[in-house]
Amino acid sequence: METVSQPKRYLVTSALPYANGLKHVGHLAGAYIPADIYTRYLRAQKRDVVFVCGSDEHGTAIPIQAMKEVTTAQAIIDKYHQAMKEDFADLHISFDVYHRTSDPLHHETSREFFTYLHDRGELETKETEQYFDVGSQTFLADRFIKGVCPHCKSVRAFGDQCESCGTALSPDELINPVSTISGQSPVKRKTTHWYLPLARHEEFLRKWILEEHKDDWRASVVGQCKSWIDGGLQSRAVTRDLNWGVQVPLDDAAGKVLYVWFDAPIGYISATKQWALDNNKDWKPYWYDQDTQLVHFIGKDNIVFHCIIFPTMLKLHGNILPANVPANEFLNLEGDKMSTSRNWKLEMRDFIQAFVKKDNGGDQCVDMLRYYLTQIAPESKDSEFTWKGFQDAVNSELVSIFGNYVNRTFVLMHKLCGGKVPRYHSDIADEKDNQLIQDIAAAKARIESLLEQYKFREALFDVIDLSRKGNRYMQEKEPWILAKTVAENPANQQLIDNCLYNCLQLTANLAILINPFLPSTARKMCYMMKVVDKMLDWQNAGSMKLLSMGYSLREPQLLFRKIEDQEIAEQIQLLKSSAMQVAENQPVSPDQPVQPVNDLKPEIVFDDFGKIDLRTGIITAAQKVPKADKLLQLEVDLGFEKRTILSGIAMHFEPEAVVGQHVVVVANLAPRKMRGIDSNGMILMAEDASGKLHFVSAGEASLGGWKVS
Ligand code: MF3
Ligand code: ZN
Repeated sequence: METVSQPKRYLVTSALPYANGLKHVGHLAGAYIPADIYTRYLRAQKRDVVFVCGSDEHGTAIPIQAMKEVTTAQAIIDKYHQAMKEDFADLHISFDVYHRTSDPLHHETSREFFTYLHDRGELETKETEQYFDVGSQTFLADRFIKGVCPHCKSVRAFGDQCESCGTALSPDELINPVSTISGQSPVKRKTTHWYLPLARHEEFLRKWILEEHKDDWRASVVGQCKSWIDGGLQSRAVTRDLNWGVQVPLDDAAGKVLYVWFDAPIGYISATKQWALDNNKDWKPYWYDQDTQLVHFIGKDNIVFHCIIFPTMLKLHGNILPANVPANEFLNLEGDKMSTSRNWKLEMRDFIQAFVKKDNGGDQCVDMLRYYLTQIAPESKDSEFTWKGFQDAVNSELVSIFGNYVNRTFVLMHKLCGGKVPRYHSDIADEKDNQLIQDIAAAKARIESLLEQYKFREALFDVIDLSRKGNRYMQEKEPWILAKTVAENPANQQLIDNCLYNCLQLTANLAILINPFLPSTARKMCYMMKVVDKMLDWQNAGSMKLLSMGYSLREPQLLFRKIEDQEIAEQIQLLKSSAMQVAENQPVSPDQPVQPVNDLKPEIVFDDFGKIDLRTGIITAAQKVPKADKLLQLEVDLGFEKRTILSGIAMHFEPEAVVGQHVVVVANLAPRKMRGIDSNGMILMAEDASGKLHFVSAGEASLGGWKVS
């Protein structure tokens, strides 16, 4: 019984991936597979649904990639747009349209959007000082500037976001900012931009998210929104000084484009328009009618854009708001964060090449990956992809439980029922038979409700669990034992018939239930059952009359092959060696100017520092320590006394070169014996990004004994 009124139509979106590189399985698990499962489920329900996506081709990420690959921004987007589109298709992500934001239709749509807001006074202008790279005469917005994250102290922080902790940043928050273009420290210059004054909409956002959606949105999503709103909503610049993007449609805005995060989500609308053009449909109801359910699938680093900024834009523009934004957490890989710069990642394409496009690969391998990524989906906390986990999921769940159940059913039907669907003798049905029928109906209802709540991993678990119940049922009924008694007791054939009839109907039900998750597997099952794909309509689930009596089925094929130890060992090896290559090349890589800043040690209080007595000194003598490659024995004049200090700098300096050097010494460090010599203190050294050591000193004029504080 349906009590809640159903939305009339659905618009499902997956985050538009940046066209600056291939995407990895973390992206796939976060925003694409769940959206695809949801959409396939809705389609099987015969609901009106459009699934849109496309490449995000603007922003500084694109010209930066062009610099790295020594080519043009246009060449970059063309290359990666095509590649991403292919990879998604290879993994059976069933977008109704895969658009791109460089398309004129998108430029037009975004400009119209901006103009609409601008003309109604919903934007404000402000003149501010922004970082500017003098050498290249470029304002340094977003990814054109990097530095140290004020929150996690990682060096992988950019002007828009920290890559390590995901915090949204503005260039002014970066510690030690440097230009990504030149590696130089920037200067400040005045510039004028348009802003979206979010504070005006605080009340709306509070009510809409923190009250109306506090129970049906994921807790992590509501939590992130709450801390944003509570932290004070700042006006967000929606334009940039840049020559790559959608031009600002105003006369006084030469050289300015829309901020990528302003135009990219509008890409969902442009994509819908493109779909409508291609299919002779009307796009407007999908963005204007209140009975449309809009759902954005994203990763957690996109939450504020999809829950706060874009909805504010949509509201001002008269559009509908998202009904839900099921954001996923992150997927780690083999014990570490996935990272493009460290090459610690598994790209979709790597998997496609290593498994799908192989002789023993194909569609079954697509489904293996979809299965594992759904089983470990980071729905409520970060999770981890491991090759061993992949192998286990395939071998001990897909092969041993689901695949095995389907295979046994077919084999036994051919062996014990002449290869035809037997008659069901309801008069002799027992409790176990009835239980199985109930289990199927209950599983259907549960899976449905879980899918509608975006709980894909639990829903998939329930599908596998139903096949586990099928195995148990078959095991308890033991039709192969009964078969031995039929000669004596012909009535026992009826028991065999009932068992296999139920097993076959369960197989057909499993095909329907697994279809949103593993579409190729469902189709293969249909082929084996000689039924058309129409059987996969969701409304058929729960029925025990899907295959009619007397119907002959094909010989079974194995649904999944096993994953061998050797295969996963190779993958682990590959991952480690490619990460190692990057590590070796890192310091000399010319395209990545590095600022020599390491992660900070934990915070100390002033008193901790106050305990250290630092003094200036002058090295008066130096010699190598026999049998110790790294140590130099130094005589240091501290003014009030002379000290012998051992220092681990012999690999960096010849003894003669350091005599006369002014240094800073930790003068109250407890003495330590090394190689039979007492060392009384420590010399301060600074290490640059390439690992080279430099002396720290108070300069040539300093005398021994000055206090350093
Ligand atoms: N390109 C962005 C990213 O990869 C996502 C854009 S989503 C959209 O993080 F809504 F802006 F399209
Ligand atoms: Zn950070």
